[in-house]
Amino acid sequence: MNLPILTYPNDILRKKAEEIKDPKDPEIKQLILDMIETMEKSGNALGLAAPQVGKMVRLCIIKLEGKTHILVNPVIKSKSIRKEMAEEGCLSFPGKFIPIKRSKKVTVKLVNRHGEKITIKAEGLLARAFQHEIDHLDGLLIIDKENKN
Ligand code: CO
Repeated sequence: MNLPILTYPNDILRKKAEEIKDPKDPEIKQLILDMIETMEKSGNALGLAAPQVGKMVRLCIIKLEGKTHILVNPVIKSKSIRKEMAEEGCLSFPGKFIPIKRSKKVTVKLVNRHGEKITIKAEGLLARAFQHEIDHLDGLLIIDKENKN
């Protein structure tokens, strides 16, 4: 099911999302499918976080280079000191692109769609997407990152 995407300044985007207790819960499984469909219908977005569709759980989807990453309860364990600047868009800010400095590399711990705890090391655009989507789970948005280190 295609879900409506909340846009700034909706207050829900500023709330902190709750940890998911059971990644195999049928409601969570359905939400994952709905978020993938919503993202695919939205055009060329790289990622979507559950709060953007009004669901306050720690879940995000990233699709890059043909691979779909399902992130349940993701936590950034480490990030590189070295950063790089690039323009970022967000489905909650239609048509807006902001240059943002982000760590080039990150290590993220998460639970995948099978309920397994895994660690992913990412760099470049994937590392950027992880940082952007995980920010959404804490109510942080691209406008907060503008002109900051
Ligand atoms: Co976004």
